[in-house]
Amino acid sequence: MFGKATGLCAVFAATMLAAGSVALADDALLNEAKEYFKPIPSVVPAVKDNAVTHEKVELGKMLFFDPRLSSSGLISCNTCHNLGMGGDDNLETSIGHGWQKGPRNAPTVLNAVFNIAQFWDGRAEDLKAQAKGPVQAGVEMASTPKRVETTLKSLPEYVERFTRAFPGEADPVNFDNMAKAIEAFEATLITPASRFDQFLEGNVAVLNDEEKEGLQLFMSKGCASCHNGVNVGGDGYYPFGVVEKPGADILPANDKGRFAVTQTADEEYVFRAGPLRNIALTAPYFHSGMVWDLEQAVAIMGTAQLGEDLSPEETKAITAFLKTLTGEMPTVTYPVLPVETADTPRPEAMIAK
Ligand code: HEC
Ligand code: HEC
Repeated sequence: MFGKATGLCAVFAATMLAAGSVALADDALLNEAKEYFKPIPSVVPAVKDNAVTHEKVELGKMLFFDPRLSSSGLISCNTCHNLGMGGDDNLETSIGHGWQKGPRNAPTVLNAVFNIAQFWDGRAEDLKAQAKGPVQAGVEMASTPKRVETTLKSLPEYVERFTRAFPGEADPVNFDNMAKAIEAFEATLITPASRFDQFLEGNVAVLNDEEKEGLQLFMSKGCASCHNGVNVGGDGYYPFGVVEKPGADILPANDKGRFAVTQTADEEYVFRAGPLRNIALTAPYFHSGMVWDLEQAVAIMGTAQLGEDLSPEETKAITAFLKTLTGEMPTVTYPVLPVETADTPRPEAMIAK
């Protein structure tokens, strides 16, 4: 009896000890993670020089979904940044005006507000500067500021909404304000409460052992030295191929990244570290969009950025961790858009008849 009881006691004590050390390990992991990462806030972030008001957000949402910002009348921001598909188009590189294939993969608009700057090479300072690009790009929406302004002014509901969203302005319906309204809407496209955010907020039990192992590896191997902050990336520029350049199929020779922005020789093939929030939803990967499998993307990062062949188990664990970065998608009610009038510019044929 006595012996049995001590035996039980010993088992109990051992279990308690094991549980204690697991708790300690979890605490250490959480503390280390907090040094690298920040949770996505649950409230809409403020934007520089552009108050995020209800009127602007509602207007920006309509503009985001309105294909009449394109000259063909067919392509909206949502065509390539589909909010039902992780905020991107799930194509290798985007297809725009006249079925032209653009040179780069579309990044997600979700949480883009937290990036240091916009585009793979960071060439747009912020979301309002960014929004003017695709509208005018020949391979994307192929329109002009003038055409956009004429279109918007021909639709009385837009005139009314711009006037309310930009009170006190003499001529509120203009290209700059279009960009500001879209930026305000994009600021609402954040995805809080992923399992990783819950972990960062102290709920350590929300990640399983493999995911925790993956998080540990993500930090100890050095991924987190480039992919950190709120967006687990998106806040610094690094060569793609620090240690070993990937093949030309994955890193095409003609896209030199930030070199085109800064004209500095040592910025050849330098890109913004990909923001990894919701990465499980946004295949294919890299600016070339040439990799469809997240595990393969992780393995490529190992050799290219760290000079390390990750083992299959390590690759799997890191991938499992990356999947915990999927947050709550914003609820977006599809907007009803104003009907065209006699003054609305007619769509331009995007393909030869
Ligand atoms: C034809 C497809 C297409 C359309 C239409 C389009 N985009 Fe994009 N978008 C892209 C591609 C491709 C990139 C990346 C280009 C690059 O990095 O050079 C991009 C980049 C972005 C980014 C930067 C995200 C980041 O992480 O850097 C934002 C934000 C964005 N687009 C918003 C918009 C908005 C707003 C509109 C509508 C006004 C729009 N896009 C229309 C394809 C498109
Ligand atoms: C030296 C900095 C650096 C390190 C270290 C690094 N990365 Fe990256 N990562 C980048 C850059 C830069 C890109 C963008 C590459 C491009 O141009 O397509 C990127 C892109 C990615 C992408 C694709 C993002 C997308 O939207 O397509 C994934 C996934 C990724 N990294 C994961 C990792 C993992 C996992 C590790 C560790 C094994 C790691 N990275 C280590 C800089 C780094």
